[in-house]
Amino acid sequence: MRTQRLDGSPQGIARAGEILRAGGLVAIPTETVYGLAANALDGSAIQKIYAAKERPGDNPLIAHIGEVSQLAALVKAVPPAAQRLAEAFWPGPLTIILERSGLTAPEMSCGLNTVSVRLPAHPLAQAVIQAAGVPLAAPSANRSGRPSPTCFSHVWEDLNGRVDAILDGGGCPVGVESTVVSLAGERPRLLRPGGVTLAQLESVLGPVEVDPAVLSRLEPGREAPSPGMKYKHYAPQAEVVMADASPEEFAAYVNAQAGEGLYALCFDEAAPLLRVPSLCYGPRFDPEAQARRLFEALHQLDQLGARRVYAQRPSQRGVGLAVYNRLIRAAAFRVERPQTPAVIGLVGPSGAGKSTVARFLARQGFFHLDCDKMTKSAGVYDYNCIKDLREAFGGEVAPDFVLDRQALAQRAFQSPQGVRTLQAITFPRILAEVRRRMEARTGPLLLDAPTLFEAGLDGACRRILAVTAPEAARLARVMARDGLGEAEARLRFRAQPGEDFYTSRADWVVENGPGVELEKRCAALAAELKSGGCL
Ligand code: TXA
Ligand code: MG
Repeated sequence: MRTQRLDGSPQGIARAGEILRAGGLVAIPTETVYGLAANALDGSAIQKIYAAKERPGDNPLIAHIGEVSQLAALVKAVPPAAQRLAEAFWPGPLTIILERSGLTAPEMSCGLNTVSVRLPAHPLAQAVIQAAGVPLAAPSANRSGRPSPTCFSHVWEDLNGRVDAILDGGGCPVGVESTVVSLAGERPRLLRPGGVTLAQLESVLGPVEVDPAVLSRLEPGREAPSPGMKYKHYAPQAEVVMADASPEEFAAYVNAQAGEGLYALCFDEAAPLLRVPSLCYGPRFDPEAQARRLFEALHQLDQLGARRVYAQRPSQRGVGLAVYNRLIRAAAFRVERPQTPAVIGLVGPSGAGKSTVARFLARQGFFHLDCDKMTKSAGVYDYNCIKDLREAFGGEVAPDFVLDRQALAQRAFQSPQGVRTLQAITFPRILAEVRRRMEARTGPLLLDAPTLFEAGLDGACRRILAVTAPEAARLARVMARDGLGEAEARLRFRAQPGEDFYTSRADWVVENGPGVELEKRCAALAAELKSGGCL
C-alpha cells in the first residue's frame, strides 16, 4: 500500500474524511499523540487498525467524537459525573469509559460491555472528525509495543506502507496519551494517567481510585481493568533502566557504568554532570515539558543505536504521574538505586510546620540536618571567615578574633547591603559545612534547608517534601514562635517565595493546619518513603 502524506489544508482534511468514510486508515495529529483513525462504526475498518498496528485483538480502542452531544449515542447513559468531566476537560486529553450502547462496532470494545470516548482538542483532529462525519476509533499511531508517535516522522517510521494516509500536523503539544478514567464501575478509577492530572479529576469527581497497574507491574493472574496495561509498552530497542536517584547520585551512578551503547536519559540539570552520552527530557521540575519530550527522546535513542539506557526517575506528582507511568513501562519495571542512603529535601514557607514534620520523620529513622542551625555552627566561623567579617564590618565584630554575634548583627543588619555582604561571606561556608555533614551521613537524611533550591542543594535530594499550611495558621505560628508582631511576620513572608514555588518542586506535599492529624500524614509518608527505598 502506498501511504499518502497529507497536510492540514482544507484539501488534506477533505481527503482524510473521504478515506475514512470509505473504510480506510488515516493517522492524524491530536494534542496528546498521533492517532491511527478509522470509522468507529465500521467493524471491518477497525480490523484494519489491529492489522496495521499488529495490536493484540483484546485491546479495545477509544472513540473520538467532535462534540460533547455525540457522547450520548455511544453509551447506555451519561451519568452526572461524566457530564461534569466533559464540561471541565473536553475538548482535551481525557478519555472516559462508560457502558456502551451498541452503536460503535463491537471490534472497538473487544467483548467488554464498555466503550471509551474522548473529545480531542487538536483543531486538525476536530476537523478530520467533522469531515468524516462519524466518530473515529484512534489508538496511538505506533506499532504495538513501540513508543507512541509525537510527530509525523515517528508515524512514518512505524506505519509507512501500512495505512492509507498520514496527516502531518507538526508536534503534539501534550506528548503523552490521554488520561483514561473509568466511570463504569462503582467508583471512579484512574486506569491511565495523562495530561489531565489526578488532582484535576478529583477536583471534579471527589476521590478517584488509582488502579495499581498505573505504578506497578500487573500481578500475575489479575485481570487487567484496561487490557492495554498488560502489554509491553513504549519500549525503544535499548534496555531501559529507571534510576531512582538524585541528580548528583544519578550522575555518579551512571558515570560509574561502562559499556557500548550506554546512554543517560536525564533531566536538563543532570546533563552537565554526566560523562556518558546523554539525552535530556526536560527540566526536573517541569513535568509538562518532560511529557512533551519523553517519546521523542525514546525515538532518538533508537536512532542513536542505544543499547542500555539509564533514565532518571520522574516525580509522580501532577503530569509527572503520566511521565512516570510511561517510563516505568519503557523500563519494563526495572528500577535501580544507588547504595548511598537517600537525602530528602524538606521545604516550605515559614511557619508551615517543617520542624514538626522533621521530628516525626526523625523518629522513623531520618537524621534531621537543620541548615538554619548551621548559621551558628562553629565550623562556619573559622579563622578566615572571621578575618573576612572583620574586614567587612570592622574589628569590633570579633575582638581578638572571637566573634561577637551581637556586634556583628548590629552592623550587618543595618542595611540591605550589610545583609548581602554578610551572606556573601557566610553562605558559601555554611553550604560547605552542610555538604560535609551530608557526605558523612551513614543513614537516610532529611535536609531541612530554607534555601534548598537557591543553594543548589536540591541536586543532592532524591525526593523533595514540602510542608504547607494556610497563611493565617502560619502567621499565628511565626508570631508566637519568634515573638514577632503581625507586620514583621508579614514582612518576613513577603521576602520568601510563594507556596507554589515549593509545591511545584515537591514529590509530596504535606498540608498542615488546624484540625490536621499531622502524625497520621507523616506515618503514611514514612510508609511511602520506606516502600520507595528511601528509608
Ligand atoms: O491520547 C490518546 O488517548 C490517544 C490519542 C490518539 O487519542 N489514543 C490512545 O489510544 O492512546 P490507545 O489505544 O493507544 O490506548 C487506549 C488505552 C488502552 O490501554 C486500552 O486498553 C484502553 O485505553 N481502553 C480503551 N477502551 C477501553 C475500555 N472499554 N475499557 C478499558 N480500557 C480501555
Ligand atoms: Mg497506545
